[in-house]
Amino acid sequence: HQGWPGLIRAYADRIGILDGAEVVTLLEGGTPLLPAPALSERTGCEVLLKVEGANPTGSFKDRGMTVAVTAAKAAGATVMLCASTGNTSASAAAYAARAGLECAVLIPTGKIAAGKLAQAVVHGARILQLDGNFDDCLEMARKAAVDTEGVELVNSVNPMRIEGQKTAAFEICDVLGRAPDVHCLPVGNAGNITAYWRGYREYADDAVVSQTPRMFGFQAAGAAPLVLGHPVREPDTIATAIRIGDPASWHGAVDARDASGGLIDAVTDEQILAAYSLLATDVGVFVEPASAASVAGLLATAADGRLPRGSLVVCTVTGNGLKDPDTAMRAMPEPTVLPVTIEAVTAALQQQT
Ligand code: F0G
Repeated sequence: HQGWPGLIRAYADRIGILDGAEVVTLLEGGTPLLPAPALSERTGCEVLLKVEGANPTGSFKDRGMTVAVTAAKAAGATVMLCASTGNTSASAAAYAARAGLECAVLIPTGKIAAGKLAQAVVHGARILQLDGNFDDCLEMARKAAVDTEGVELVNSVNPMRIEGQKTAAFEICDVLGRAPDVHCLPVGNAGNITAYWRGYREYADDAVVSQTPRMFGFQAAGAAPLVLGHPVREPDTIATAIRIGDPASWHGAVDARDASGGLIDAVTDEQILAAYSLLATDVGVFVEPASAASVAGLLATAADGRLPRGSLVVCTVTGNGLKDPDTAMRAMPEPTVLPVTIEAVTAALQQQT
């Protein structure tokens, strides 16, 4: 390999997979830790973005999927199965294709962003749409995986997924030479906050870093079971990736919050969309709506004083904006159609400024 070898090889000593297993990788990980001056100015903190949309399928799910599919293939499984709000299915489909395995995905009808569905289709996954929400899909996937020979469940209830995803925390510490003071991220099924916390704790336990960050998790207000303290039967938010009412890693999220001295709070769809636009126009980073929940939470906690000024803060932006073109296009103004004359074009340009 030249350059970045993918996260299994980069962190071989910290990920438990079988010796001699064929590594299934698309060279995921090694994503940018991007300074965000516009956010630093607004918050009085030093803010960096962990840009997970730069992964091969456009989301952080690839970190977990390389490890889960590598382990499943080594164990002789033939079908990768998952429930998904979109990104997990896109990632599972790509890694299964790479591994020469089958993939089947259970998705909630009508609530998957177009780009994600396109990925699952083009990678050749079997797409089973259920007339229910993500929580229903996960329940069915868990049962089907137990009942069916050769099927491996690659949702984050699979411990290999968490093993892979914890490497994002390693990368951040490796770049900074320390852990941040605060880490903000969106929370849906709660696997990722669980994984980051595990990664940070491992580095601190082994004295690679001297402290762990406070974990700040943010759910969408219409899908905020961890904030309410009970499952939500009909979760709803524009951030379809985190439209989840009963997170599988509930305990992991609460532990990350409490052990780190952090918080889990809700942000409204309006706050999410405002952060989504701000990231695009003032930071130059196009994310999907769920990813903007971390930045919405950053802005809210900076404004009300819960985020101390001067903190070193990392926000994970979990998925690429291209995943969800419909949300982006909703903000598009009526296009101006011009005749093909230089007079019309210069006149229009002058009007813009
Ligand atoms: N951001 C994005 C873009 C996601 O796709 C997800 C989860 C999350 C945040 C939340 O992460 O579940 O670990 O708390 N998407 C899953 C999926 C549920 O099926 O793609 P989490």
